[in-house]
Amino acid sequence: MATIGATRGNIVTHVPKRCMRAQNRKRLVLLWGLTSFALFGVALADEANQMVRGKLVYDRFCSLCHGANLEGQPNWRKRNELGKLPAPPHDETGHTWHHPDHILFGIIKFGVKPPYGPPDYESDMPAWGDTLSDEDIRAVLAYIKSKWPEKQRRYQDEMTKQAEGNR
Ligand code: HEC
Repeated sequence: MATIGATRGNIVTHVPKRCMRAQNRKRLVLLWGLTSFALFGVALADEANQMVRGKLVYDRFCSLCHGANLEGQPNWRKRNELGKLPAPPHDETGHTWHHPDHILFGIIKFGVKPPYGPPDYESDMPAWGDTLSDEDIRAVLAYIKSKWPEKQRRYQDEMTKQAEGNR
């Protein structure tokens, strides 16, 4: 009995140690997997939330002039009878994607006035700083960008990186 007991004791102390190491490793891997999955999920959810918010902002505050499908106003390159430019499209046929992020952000927040436009320039583009939070502005920009084809997106990304490097 004593021998069996000792053997059992050995088994009890010896085997589980190795088992535990393996189990701990498995648990760690599992925990790591779950954590990265959760973080990835949160990132995806954040992105999805931003897109929903961006579309809400766009539909409510921008679509009236820039068009429900970002198509802009007709003849947007020609000044109207008051000498002002109509609202340009925000899709790939316009020139929104020619500007880096900080310029787009500034135009939306402060309007087309210095430093985002010439002094005394008269524009129908309102300044949205009093109506929209910075987060709303970032969301509407993300929404607009999501409508660009790959080429325009990459170009604008590059412009933003260059502008950030020069600042
Ligand atoms: C009342 C009409 C009107 C509304 C509403 C409006 N815009 Fe504009 N927007 C314009 C006009 C007009 C221009 C052209 C400005 C100019 O050059 O005179 C413009 C220009 C812009 C530009 C610069 C585009 C470029 O290629 O230079 C951006 C960016 C922009 N608008 C974003 C927005 C966003 C985002 C909203 C909604 C939050 C919005 N606008 C709402 C009329 C409007």
